[in-house]
Amino acid sequence: MSTYSTSSSYSPPSPPSAALSDVLTAAPLSVSVYIVYDSDTGYTEALAHSMAETVREEGERLSQLVPGLSLSLTIATVAEADPDAFISVAEADPEAFISSDLVFLGSPVWNGSPKVSVLEFLARCPFSGRPREFMAVSFATGSAFVGGLEHTLATLDRSLSVFGGVPVGGSFRQALGVGAVTKDGVYSGYVDPVFLRHGASLASRALTLTVQQVLGKAVLAQHTS
Ligand SMILES: Cc1cc2nc3c(=O)[nH]c(=O)nc-3n(C[C@H](O)[C@H](O)[C@H](O)COP(=O)(O)O)c2cc1C
Repeated sequence: MSTYSTSSSYSPPSPPSAALSDVLTAAPLSVSVYIVYDSDTGYTEALAHSMAETVREEGERLSQLVPGLSLSLTIATVAEADPDAFISVAEADPEAFISSDLVFLGSPVWNGSPKVSVLEFLARCPFSGRPREFMAVSFATGSAFVGGLEHTLATLDRSLSVFGGVPVGGSFRQALGVGAVTKDGVYSGYVDPVFLRHGASLASRALTLTVQQVLGKAVLAQHTS
């Protein structure tokens, strides 16, 4: 029988706290966020806007939480002058999308799957130099509870992971991605706040994980430079 030891003789050259404070004071930590979606009747767009708002709020909160942390958060928009004009799938730049630190990709459910325009966008994403890791959040809206929402989210997550995306999950309410039902029972004709809350929760978690990852990379770079 083989035995394995989990201990290691490696000792870092200096305490991590020193590297961390160096990183925190060196320059603003920049985190880029790219949100892409398609939406015909506005439901998926509503979810996109709600999650973007959370990302902004959470970005400010994180900046104030860690002493010395200065966070430069960029959310890709159609025009810089209009921070609320998020990028629809037709206008999105695939290269910029998968080069971001955190991406959100949203689609309505069409015939049990993501809408073709969203799959076409993924097909336009370049493979060269991949995989490069980034945090990935999928979101979708569908008229029914069992009409393909979960399958759509899984398809988006699988595709994003092909490019190096790390799908972010949350609790059992948004295990992988956020789904909203838009035409079933009481959840008809609007995106219920309960789904928006699931989106906010996952967006917040995704941004926290992204900041941790970017910070960790910067600390490692400090050690190895
Ligand atoms: C062509 C077409 C196919 C659809 N197929 C499904 C489906 O298979 N399952 C489902 O739950 N909803 C289906 N829907 C409903 C949409 O997914 C739902 O209305 C969604 O919330 C629309 O989002 P949007 O307003 O962002 O376009 C379909 C809608 C269209 C137009």
